[in-house]
Amino acid sequence: MADNNRTSLHGLWTSRWAFIMAATGSAVGLGNIWKFPYITGENGGGAFVLVYLLCIFLIGVPIMMAEVMLGRRGRRNPVDSMKHLAAETGHSQLWKFLGWTGIAAGFLILSYYSVIAGWAISYVFTTAAGTFAGADAALVGQHFDALTKSPATLIFWHSIFMLITMAVVARGIEGGIEKAVRFLIPALFGLIIVMVLYAMTTSGFAEGLRFMFAPDFSKLTTEGVLKAMGQAFFTLSIGMGAIMVYGAYLPKETSITQTSFSIAIADTSVAVLAGVAIFPIVFANGLEAGSGPGLIFVTLPLAFGNMAFGALFGTLFFILLVFAAWSSSISLIEPAVAWLIENKGFSRLKASIVLGLLTWFIGLGTVFSFNEWSDLTLFGKTFFDLLDYLTANIMLPLGGVLMAVFAGWLMKKSASHDELAISESAYVIWRFLVRYVTPIAVMLVFLNAIGVFF
Ligand code: PHE
Repeated sequence: MADNNRTSLHGLWTSRWAFIMAATGSAVGLGNIWKFPYITGENGGGAFVLVYLLCIFLIGVPIMMAEVMLGRRGRRNPVDSMKHLAAETGHSQLWKFLGWTGIAAGFLILSYYSVIAGWAISYVFTTAAGTFAGADAALVGQHFDALTKSPATLIFWHSIFMLITMAVVARGIEGGIEKAVRFLIPALFGLIIVMVLYAMTTSGFAEGLRFMFAPDFSKLTTEGVLKAMGQAFFTLSIGMGAIMVYGAYLPKETSITQTSFSIAIADTSVAVLAGVAIFPIVFANGLEAGSGPGLIFVTLPLAFGNMAFGALFGTLFFILLVFAAWSSSISLIEPAVAWLIENKGFSRLKASIVLGLLTWFIGLGTVFSFNEWSDLTLFGKTFFDLLDYLTANIMLPLGGVLMAVFAGWLMKKSASHDELAISESAYVIWRFLVRYVTPIAVMLVFLNAIGVFF
């Protein structure tokens, strides 16, 4: 029998609520507000959104439950949790590589995540300075171009973001994250609602809603399906060990099922509302829905520039976006930090500095993707595009499926049923989803997407 009551080296969450907040803080981030709208725009809208929602609830939630469960049973960093669980169930030690690829994915994601979060920090100041007051589409477009064409500016903000991330990580996750996220998520929600109300007053509202919710399957490519699935993993923070690490700090009596659903619902609401706020502005101003990673940085300033108290709301919005990115970035690096502390005897501070510097350095590749190296492409993708593609669309789904396979096929039924503590019928559904639906669905989407390349 597993030593279930063992606790984590890093302490436990002080309450069920604290875990929900931290995991929601991890889930809600740039993925919801920056990435979801722009990839929805690039992939034709409604049909993409539908596939995304299906992936969240049929693949994402069951895998999240599996991941939290593995973390809580393993009670260590992802590498050692997998090693321990493999030993406990009599399976190969190779499972530890699942922890390794997760740590690598988190690391790589953070390297570009920080650069984009840097954009958001810079927009806090520009918005506060009133730069966008009364602005038109041309002006906000120029501002965004000027920012992304300047490596020095991007490096500056990227460095600031890495610094604040590592500062929190260095202090340990309980104190800092728990407190910040508690007011952050509700406040972010509130401001997005303000944005939606503004969007309702624009001439593009109906068209925006149609774009997001009326599926036109002729616009959906096989690669779009892969991206919708990748986004479901990315936005829920699953498949790389972030949620596993947070699960490792979860008290035994907390319901994994309820918390997973709450997190998924909160996360999805933020993403969908962000889309509902952004697309009307796109259409009302004759902008391009598929314009790429700059989408929110050219639509939202337009809204802030033309609404009452826009500078105030805009500044607040970007501050909250930075906080949301911050609480996600911490979870991207926490698995690696926990590993260094538990295995190499590093202090938290040392682990943070070493990993922070390394991540910062890889981030330079993303910085240059938007200027000096923008013509340097492989398969038509810049360094940033490749990194994003590889991590979100391949590494996370693969990692997630392996977790599902472990939880569904290799763990004892009694053990997983005990961990999930749900009714027999709910358990049967979950087990069916992780054993059959998730691996088959992910493999089909992969194979389908590979077909695109030949
Ligand atoms: N879920 C975060 C977001 O949507 C990103 C993230 C991915 C965080 C994977 C942790 C792990 O912004």
